[in-house]
Amino acid sequence: MQDWRWPTYRPRNITLEQVVYENDDPNRGGVRVKAKDGKVYLDAVGGIGCLPLGHSSKRWVGAMTEQMNTLVSAAGPFWTDVNTALARRILDMAPVADGRIFFGNTGTEVTEASIKVALKATGRDVIIGFEKAFHGRSLGSLSLTANPKYRDGFLTTPEDDGKRFAHMNVVRAPFGDLEATAKLLEQYAGRVAMVCLEPVQGEGGINPAKRDFLVGLHGLCRQHGSLLALDEIQAGSGRTGDFSAWTTLVGDDPALFPDIIWWAKALGGGFPISAVVARGDIAAHMVPGTHGSTFGGNPLACRAAMETLDIMQDDDLFARAGSQLATLQTIAATKPISAVREVRGLGAMLGMDFGDPELVSKLVAATAEQGLLVTASGGIAIRWLFPYWAGEDILAEAWDKLGKAVAAVS
Ligand SMILES: Cc1ncc(COP(=O)(O)O)c(C=O)c1O
Repeated sequence: MQDWRWPTYRPRNITLEQVVYENDDPNRGGVRVKAKDGKVYLDAVGGIGCLPLGHSSKRWVGAMTEQMNTLVSAAGPFWTDVNTALARRILDMAPVADGRIFFGNTGTEVTEASIKVALKATGRDVIIGFEKAFHGRSLGSLSLTANPKYRDGFLTTPEDDGKRFAHMNVVRAPFGDLEATAKLLEQYAGRVAMVCLEPVQGEGGINPAKRDFLVGLHGLCRQHGSLLALDEIQAGSGRTGDFSAWTTLVGDDPALFPDIIWWAKALGGGFPISAVVARGDIAAHMVPGTHGSTFGGNPLACRAAMETLDIMQDDDLFARAGSQLATLQTIAATKPISAVREVRGLGAMLGMDFGDPELVSKLVAATAEQGLLVTASGGIAIRWLFPYWAGEDILAEAWDKLGKAVAAVS
């Protein structure tokens, strides 16, 4: 077939066609998808973390259909009942003091909004990010993304060695290294607008931050008058066991709350919506004209997120997601795959570290041969982002398929 795409994705040569449901529970979407050639795959990609209920939960589809018959589009300045309800709900769960919300559509948009609010609120120009970080592909988000694979050719100029974009300089510390972060804060004293990180690095190899590191960053930021900012696009929206990965890792002590957090991916249950919450006094700097989004907070996307959160609440899905890693580690201990160096992550953010980019690359294709769709993370790990309800049976089946794929390529 003539490839109609920009060659930005390594093609997988699978044409996905339709969700396959396994039971009559209207809350549960499918974890399997049928391809055009009739093959059925167990889906551990989940739109790269966008399907916390699985594909097309019937209750979620019903709510969306009803909303489409009510109101689909309303520009940013207008309130609707559904965006007000969603804003209240997220603000209630967000570990941010006196939060105010901005709605976007995709992940990178809310990274951009966060960069803008941090620069504006502090009047500073340096942002501290971390090695192996991924924050999106628009140019501001890309400046914060560490891997040169994503950045080269867009941000590097001979004058500034890739560090400068617009009114912003990015410097990076190793992920987890509090001392290196403190040194950067001292080196750029009075200039650091925010320290920005993913609580669990999603594209960088599934690396969860340690509690001490996060609490230490909070203390350093307070000491230097810098904002602490969390990209929970992949790790948030319940995937780690709480709505916010910060809460899972640090707890809900308001004295330790960060200043800005943002979510996307799983928030809409498969429909695009993103949200960023900043402390009220920080958000207050974004006066009319400083930011906006035509589609941000539209009633259809907000309804998708509301229904997703309702289903998560009714089925206790945060707790179910939170238990996936322990379940998988038990399965892995009982039936080890010798090439797997470590099974790590947090909740339903699962990574199998093989430490071998060539093997991982082969496994992405070999697992599909076995009927399992996966993505790689950080070059060295296979990543699974199953629906939150997925339990031991699904994880054990996926583990068996992974084992067979390893055997097939070894
Ligand atoms: C942590 C993180 N930040 C930002 C993004 C970018 O999100 P989007 O592709 O929706 O723009 C991603 C996507 O994978 C992500 O995982």
